[in-house]
Amino acid sequence: MLKETLLEATRAAAGLMKSNFGGGYKISSKSGINDLVTEVDKLCEQAIFTIIRSRYPDHHILSEESGDLRQDSAYKWIVDPIDGTVNYAHGVPLCCVSVALEKDGQMLMGAVYNPFLEEFFFAERGRGATLNGRKISVSLNPRLETAFLVTGFPYQWEELPRDPMQVFGSFVKAGLPLRRMGSAAIDLCWVACGRFDGFWEHNLNAWDAAAGYLIVEEAGGRVTDLAGNAYSPYQKRLLATNGRIHEELLEAIIRA
Ligand code: IPD
Ligand code: CA
Ligand code: CA
Repeated sequence: MLKETLLEATRAAAGLMKSNFGGGYKISSKSGINDLVTEVDKLCEQAIFTIIRSRYPDHHILSEESGDLRQDSAYKWIVDPIDGTVNYAHGVPLCCVSVALEKDGQMLMGAVYNPFLEEFFFAERGRGATLNGRKISVSLNPRLETAFLVTGFPYQWEELPRDPMQVFGSFVKAGLPLRRMGSAAIDLCWVACGRFDGFWEHNLNAWDAAAGYLIVEEAGGRVTDLAGNAYSPYQKRLLATNGRIHEELLEAIIRA
């Protein structure tokens, strides 16, 4: 029932995302002028809430556009109604719905669905990860030198040692192929299915990564923070790799 609810909520939101694609909705700014939210983000969020609440009215929900809707429950749904809103608002179909379910602080399952590519990623703790129902695994590449990498940048600049541009610049100078796609959840899923060998970002929220990091781990990859510590979606820094290049990529980020 939990799994069906998660899948159904993710599909319902993705349907709305697809049917409203192309404009005609209101767009506003949040933390900064380019940190966008559209009416469709809110529509998708409400569709997800309606489905979860119809079965689990007492569950806690943490969602990007509505915040922490606390309930006294061991279960917490972590929702990003559209991950990649800037892409969506500009008509770029690299965006998705991300929904994860945590119980007593442990991520149980996660779904990430890009309805434009018809790619539905799902993972359940201990049971592997799938893309459209087929098992997926991370890449086998053992070397950073030949790695295909992806990253993301914050909407608001933060002065940090080894800031995102220093790290990005060091890999560009090393001649590594590097992408910035605009959806952290998709970045993670593309590491999980072996398209990318590694992904890092300096400033993520729980809703960006909760489903995707479980999908990476269940596909055989490794996820830590940017100091190599165990990952928690409640801190901002994330490094996800195929496991084989993890130490080398971590060292390169720390050295940048
Ligand atoms: C953003 C995307 C982007 C990442 C940002 C996120 P949003 O989420 O995941 O790739 O670089 O840090 O905030 O705002 O589109 O839900
Ligand atoms: Ca997001
Ligand atoms: Ca979002």
